[in-house]
Formats: sequence, structure tokens, C-alpha cells
Amino acid sequence: MAEPAIEVYEDEQRTFPPSAAFVGQANAGDRALFDEAAEDRLAFWARQARELLTWDTDFDTVLEWDLPDAKWFVGGELNITTNCLDRHVAAGRGDKVAYHWEGEPGDTVTITYAELLTEVCKFANVLKGLGLEKGDRVAIYMPMILELPIAMLACARLGVAHSVIFGGFSADAIVDRCEDAEARLVITADAGYRRGAPAALKPTVDAALASGAASVENVVVVNRCDTGPDMTDGRDHWWHDLMADASADCPAEPMDSEQLLYLLYTSGTTAKPKGIMHTTGGYLTQVAFTHKYVFDLKPETDVYWCAADIGWVTGHSYIVYGPLANGCTSVMYEGTPDTPDKDRLWDIIARYGVTQLYTAPTAIRMFMKWGTEYPERHDLSTLRVLGTVGEPINPEAWMWYHEHIGGNGTPIVDTWWQTETGGHMITPLPGVTTTKPGSATHTIPGVVAKLVDDDGNVVTEGGGYLTIAEPWPSMLRGIWGDPERFRDTYWSRFPGRYFAGDGAKLDADGYLWLLGRVDDVMNVSGHRISTTEVESALVDHPAVAEAAVVGGNDEVTGQAIIGYVILRGGHEASEELGNEIREHVGVKLGKIARPKTVIIVPDLPKTRSGKIMRRLLRDVADGRSLGDTTTLADPGVVAEIQSRAAEGGED
Ligand code: PRX
Repeated sequence: MAEPAIEVYEDEQRTFPPSAAFVGQANAGDRALFDEAAEDRLAFWARQARELLTWDTDFDTVLEWDLPDAKWFVGGELNITTNCLDRHVAAGRGDKVAYHWEGEPGDTVTITYAELLTEVCKFANVLKGLGLEKGDRVAIYMPMILELPIAMLACARLGVAHSVIFGGFSADAIVDRCEDAEARLVITADAGYRRGAPAALKPTVDAALASGAASVENVVVVNRCDTGPDMTDGRDHWWHDLMADASADCPAEPMDSEQLLYLLYTSGTTAKPKGIMHTTGGYLTQVAFTHKYVFDLKPETDVYWCAADIGWVTGHSYIVYGPLANGCTSVMYEGTPDTPDKDRLWDIIARYGVTQLYTAPTAIRMFMKWGTEYPERHDLSTLRVLGTVGEPINPEAWMWYHEHIGGNGTPIVDTWWQTETGGHMITPLPGVTTTKPGSATHTIPGVVAKLVDDDGNVVTEGGGYLTIAEPWPSMLRGIWGDPERFRDTYWSRFPGRYFAGDGAKLDADGYLWLLGRVDDVMNVSGHRISTTEVESALVDHPAVAEAAVVGGNDEVTGQAIIGYVILRGGHEASEELGNEIREHVGVKLGKIARPKTVIIVPDLPKTRSGKIMRRLLRDVADGRSLGDTTTLADPGVVAEIQSRAAEGGED
């Protein structure tokens, strides 16, 4: 198989069984769910759908499967916001806190389910007033403020699909996404607070709309930071003005189980991001199920915190839809873990008595670097379950999380899933699974994964490609506007199976160890970035003739973007030019895609067929300590690349 991006921790022998005390109180304290799903997978999911959700019309068929097209809970009708809001209020839980929100400057808002429902209904009426109708698409480009989930839920109430664009993305990224989805409206804010200052958003939307995205008719702007952005007459509207006159009466209309809920764009192996489609009934069933069992959620007493950004799928499923469907109290925050100080997370946990924390390995490695003095300042004893997501977690980071945040006793759930899978797929269940540091362990009940070799034969021990063998409720329903790419990308490499793009290994005990992507997708701080996309942005710079991008190893971010560039004639290699090229990528794609290092080289190693030998470039990058700068290829590197290219080997 293709060489995995990271090592596997084969020597890892430590095991952590659930404690008797945890098992005694767990939502899943034995294997009953696994047994039930193994016996009849579809009946298992049907039971979850009926027990966890409230349907306006019951479904008659659990699954219609015409590979690669799935329809779950066919004939069923429900409104996702009824499930997330109205039914909790109707059951007398309207005063329950939905979110404790923490702004970066220290401002806080506590919003109850009843208040959230009112805001959602009002904003849904605002959307209607702007002419939005069921089936339309709306782009959302916002900071982590409460108006973001309100906007998403207001769309969902009407059957308008939202497409959330991460606030760190560029104007070009907004244009691409709005054009692809033909979005009629953009919802944004003037700015959001980040590391002590407002980070502007509205000017980026203005730049985007000045250069394209002609489908966008209106822009709604939340005034978060009082930065006084330009407002275009007739097109731009203040959120608070529209909300001032909006009625709170907006009855929820039942939607088909397969109504499009949202698009979320993610990087693939080509330069064009894919609009991943998620629908209503199956999606909500799996996110509610996993949120309840993977985090052992007790909605009456828990204070749950997923410290991700809603701009990514983790925030969609585990800040918005899963937690609200389960009626729990969540924490949501704006800003970063190091502002005002490096104990921000631990301070918030102690103040609210947070019971579940869900974060990324890259954050844990950063906390390790900062040192234990920060968590030690606070009482973290309320934590009951710790989660990680986004990339493989190295055992050292796992053990640090276990010891310094979990006080040696709190179960850790390492959850493997993707934008495409919608919800958790491979993860421990904390009352059932004995964990091993660095392994995501096993599939959840009702999901069937198989490792296969190059020829598609099932591998029962050792390395292979991770595939999903049966459809699952929260699976993507397609790529927006491109059914052919949907089939090609996920369903053609191993016929009959969904190919995730990850390598994995099964150990002798049947534990899965994720190895990272086996395609041209990098994982930087848990964010998926396409090498091709960065390469296109590099060659877009007038001085660049050719570029190759690889993910090098990085202690904190997992992988780091390393760009090798060849200059066009007439351009002199210099550190300034290299930095200018790096910044160009930041402007084209957004800061998260800016290469850590740009190496200016006279030539790139290629196979006889003209394919760039990326593995060689990765080795060269990993063999050198590369700073956050430009590195001019010194003769040593060139000689190394040349001699190793000469040693041969197709990549
Ligand atoms: O390579 C896997 C990695 O992240 C990819 C999915 O990225 P994205 O769609 O952005 O979703 C991230 C959040 C769900 C996967 O193909 N990945 C995610 N979780 C893990 C992981 N790799 C190893 N272990 C995980 N727990």
C-alpha cells in the first residue's frame, strides 16, 4: 500500500479498561448495543431513530441503497429544529441552558432552550423576509458567536441548506463556495475577537462579492466588534435591525427525512473543494446516538464542551446538532486557548464544571509544550470523559491528556470520522471499551469497517486501506453538483465499498490504528488541506513556474505544509521573494493553508513519466529542521534530491 504519513505505535502495550464505577453508571455499560447491531443493523438504526428523535411522520423503509446513493428512513418526516429546540421547550425544559457562551474579551451570554428557540424563529422569519425558500442555499462566514448556531438553525427550520465557511478562509474561498452552491445570501459579522483584537470578516466578504459570486443578493451582518464596516445600500443589512422587527412566530414545517440540511466544503485531491452534502433524518440519528453514547451524556446534569470551531464538521455535529438534539447544556467559546492566558480552557472548565471536553491532538500537544502549570491552576475534577478528533493521537499526548487533564481515571475517546461520515465511526464507548493509547479501537455499533489491500482483499491483521463496507445513517449523500466525482472519489477504488482515503492497521487484538491519509491530502492541526490546492495557489504567484507541496512531520501540528518552488526566468531567489510567495498562498486560500516553509529549488525530482516524487521531497523536508521561513535550496539539498532521485524508484 501507499506509504502512510505517520508511524504506527506498534510497541504500545498499555491498556486501560473502564473502571467499575464508570461502567456502573454508563449509558452503555455492556456489549448489548454491539450485539443488537450485529444481529440486525437496520433494525438497530431504526430503533435509534425512533427513540432519539421525534418524527412528524414515521418512516416506512429504513434504508434504500442503490450504490452509491443512500436514502435513510424513507417516508419519514421531521423538522430538525423541532428536535433540537421545540420538543425540549414543550417538555418543560425551556429554562435549561443550551449554551454558556464565552467571548474572548471576557463577555459571557447564557442562553436557554426557550430563548434559543425564540431567536431561531425570529431569524427564520428574517430569512423569509429576504425571500429565502426551502431548497435555497445560504453561506455563513462568522466568528464563534451565538448568532452562528442561530443562523444555522434558522436555515434548517425552513429547509434552506447552510454552507458554513470557516472564518479563516480567504475571499477567493468564499467566491468558490458561493458560486458552486449558488448561495443567495451571506451571513457574516463585522469581525470576531482573536488574540486580543478584532479579526475582520466583513471586508473579506466585500472583496469576495466584488470579484464574483453573482448569485448573492443580500448580506446580513452581526455587529460583534463595532469596527464600522462599509455597508452597501440595498445589499447589506444589520442583523440587529432585521431582528428588531421580526416576529417570533415561525411554525416548523415537517421535512422529508432526506431534505438537504447542509453543504460543507472540504479538500480533496484536486484543487476544487468538494461540497459534501448532508441530509436530515439519518444525520441527526447518528450524531444524536454517538453524542449520547460516546460522551456518556447525562443531559440533566452534564456541562459538555466541544472546543472546536463550527466552521468544521466537528462543530456542526458536536457543538450544534448532536448536543441540541440531546437537550444538553454546552459551552461555546470565541477566541483561542492562549488568550487572555494559556489556562483559558482550564479556567472555563473549572468555572462551569465541565464534564466532557472534546478537542484535537494538536491542541493537546500545544498544551504539553506550555507545561502542566496551567491546568494545575484549576480544579478539573468535574471532567468525566475526554475526547479527541481530527488526526491520529500519539501515545505520549494521549498519556499526558490522561494524566494531567483526566487525573488518571477519566476515559479517553479517540474518535475517527470525517466530514463525509457526518458522525463518529471508529471510537471507544467509554463504559465498554478497553482503550490503548493511540488507537481509535473499534467501529461503533451499526458501522462496518474493513481494511483491504491493494487488490481489495480484506485484511484481518496488519496494514491496509480503511473502507466502510455498509451504508451508515449520517453518510454523505453526494458532492454538490457532481455525482460523477462522488462515485469516482469514494466508491470506485474498491468496488462496493466507501474508501475513506486513510491507511490503518489492525493489531492482533483487533484494534484499529489510524495511520493518516494515503492520498494527496495533508492534515495540519487536524485540518484537511489538499496539496494540489496549495500547489495551484503557489503557481498563481507570477514568480513561480512550478511547485510541489508535501506534508512534513511537525511536533505540534502533526503535519506542516512544505512547498518546493521553481522560479520563472528573470526572478532572483531571495528570502523576501519566498516570504512573498508564502503570503500569496495565505491570501489566496486563507492563513491555515500558508506553507510553513517555502524552499526555492532549481529543479524538482520526477519519475520517468514526469510525476513529482513527493515521497522524496517529504524525506528531504523531514531530514532537515525547517523554520517558519523561506529556505533557499542550498547545494546540499539539491545534491541530495538529485542523488536520491538518481537512486531511482517511482513514488
Ligand atoms: O485522516 C483522517 C483524519 O481526518 C480526516 C478527516 O478530516 P475532516 O473531514 O476534516 O474531519 C475531521 C474531523 C472529523 C480523516 O480522513 N482523522 C480524523 N479523526 C481522526 C483522524 N485520524 C486519526 N484518528 C482520528 N481520531
